[in-house]
Amino acid sequence: MNGCNGKMGQTITRIIQEYQEMKIVAGISRNTQKFINPYPVFKSFYELDSCEADVVLDFSNADAIPEVVGYCTRTGTALVTGTTGLSDLHYNLLKQASEVIPVFSAANMSFGVSVLLELVLKAAAALGHEYDIEILEKHHNEKKDAPSGTALMLARELQALRGSNTELVYDRSGRNEKRDKKEIGISSIRGGTIPGEHTVLFAGKDEVLELKHTALSRDVLGRGALKAVQFIAGKEKGWYGMKSMLKE
Ligand SMILES: NC(=O)c1ccc[n+]([C@@H]2O[C@H](COP(=O)([O-])OP(=O)(O)OC[C@H]3O[C@@H](n4cnc5c(N)ncnc54)[C@H](OP(=O)(O)O)[C@@H]3O)[C@@H](O)[C@H]2O)c1
Repeated sequence: MNGCNGKMGQTITRIIQEYQEMKIVAGISRNTQKFINPYPVFKSFYELDSCEADVVLDFSNADAIPEVVGYCTRTGTALVTGTTGLSDLHYNLLKQASEVIPVFSAANMSFGVSVLLELVLKAAAALGHEYDIEILEKHHNEKKDAPSGTALMLARELQALRGSNTELVYDRSGRNEKRDKKEIGISSIRGGTIPGEHTVLFAGKDEVLELKHTALSRDVLGRGALKAVQFIAGKEKGWYGMKSMLKE
């Protein structure tokens, strides 16, 4: 478990105890003493070469991706990563790794969000270009990246559906112009302990349709991640995500 002492790492450390068929054999944290965990914790993957695991589960930070990918490809270990805020460089590293090992990447591990995506694409196709699309996401005040990986995922899927001239707009301040039809707006709110909320809004003439998912606790994300771990263990090398897991 990479990022074992983070919020998701600790959520998974707690809920995995309910599962007979999985256990964490080691954790990675730069602060090994932060919590007492029922497994050994190492400062980095470089200390881990003697450790055998079927899957590395990563909830950490984009900066950690090169080290995680390095370990997994060196040892032939499958990787499930939920880390967000990834740049194209990080994605490319993960994609390259998927030519050697199975890699599962999802900006949101909850089943409900996968269904939200399907509904959103259906609504967008049915409503057409007359409806303006805005995405609103809310998260706790400790989240570093904005917009959320899930909001970006929803936006990019909608962009792919609407066509390549669709523009993602993150900030309207300083813009002194009307909203263009080709825009998809994305807004982020940070506060308190909100685990995660995503709303996709279709605004037409005299009507608004909203599709919304609320994560009530991190457990739903942790359970989804453990489902992904079970799904990917023993799989062939390749690129996997929520869509491939739902299909299977
Ligand atoms: N896909 C999903 O469903 C989902 C759900 C929730 C969160 N997330 C994403 O998962 C990530 C972790 O979320 P979280 O809420 O658990 O965050 P968090 O509480 O901040 O924990 C992140 C952990 O990553 C480690 N870390 C931070 N920077 C690092 C670096 N440069 N190198 C190595 N390790 C580093 C830290 O561990 P040490 O300081 O102990 O080393 C920290 O405990 C974020 O990207 C978040 O957006 C995704």
